Amino acid sequence: MTAGRTVNSQNVNWCTPRRYVKAVKQVFEGVIELDPCSNKWSIVKANTEFSLPKHDGLVESWKYKTIYVNPPYGADREKGTTIKHWLYKCADANNRFHSEVLALIPVATNTSHWKEYIWGKATAVCFLYETRLKFLENGNMEGKGAPMSCAMVYWGKNYAVFFNVFLKFGAVVDLRKLKDKAIGEEIIIKKRRKVFSQDTIFDIENNSNQLDLL
Ligand SMILES: C[S@@+](CC[C@H](N)C(=O)[O-])C[C@H]1O[C@@H](n2cnc3c(N)ncnc32)[C@H](O)[C@@H]1O
Repeated sequence: MTAGRTVNSQNVNWCTPRRYVKAVKQVFEGVIELDPCSNKWSIVKANTEFSLPKHDGLVESWKYKTIYVNPPYGADREKGTTIKHWLYKCADANNRFHSEVLALIPVATNTSHWKEYIWGKATAVCFLYETRLKFLENGNMEGKGAPMSCAMVYWGKNYAVFFNVFLKFGAVVDLRKLKDKAIGEEIIIKKRRKVFSQDTIFDIENNSNQLDLL
């Protein structure tokens, strides 16, 4: 599934517009230490920027204090990676290195990457009000803007700062109460029951290790 931005052109680098770069810097007290997926047109200007072909942002370490990610939305068929791998890195950097992380991504709340790395892991999300977010296309302000709805997701400790900076861009939702909760358990169990056929020889609800394999 494509998130929409790639529908327009596979050759365009969709760079973050200035007002969001400014807002991200405000949340990070002025400094973006890492942009793991950059390019020559980007105005993010993080202290460290990973760019292909030299530095693969999904392979390099994300042990940085502040990280801003505007990942490729489409799949990289050569490498076999998708946006899910970028979101895994976001949640992992926050969990392991206590990195403050912001990611600008498409709203796709019914996908496995939202379910696994945002709900129960992120601190907050701002659902952006812009109907068509105008990314800088190869550095230029042109075109109609992206067709999908976008969100800024935050993994970090400073909820109040994120709220104050991002409220002017959209609806900020506090996700902290979801941390470490069993979200959607009822649905997940039902789905797993369906996956196992009737001749399943063990009792599903009492075999959580087996269920984790699904
Ligand atoms: C949506 S653009 C964002 C650019 C910049 N971070 C910004 O926000 O302005 C994503 C960029 O990631 C680069 N990219 C894709 N896969 C990558 C990888 N594995 N490692 C590093 N960069 C990658 C692409 O070349 C593309 O320019």
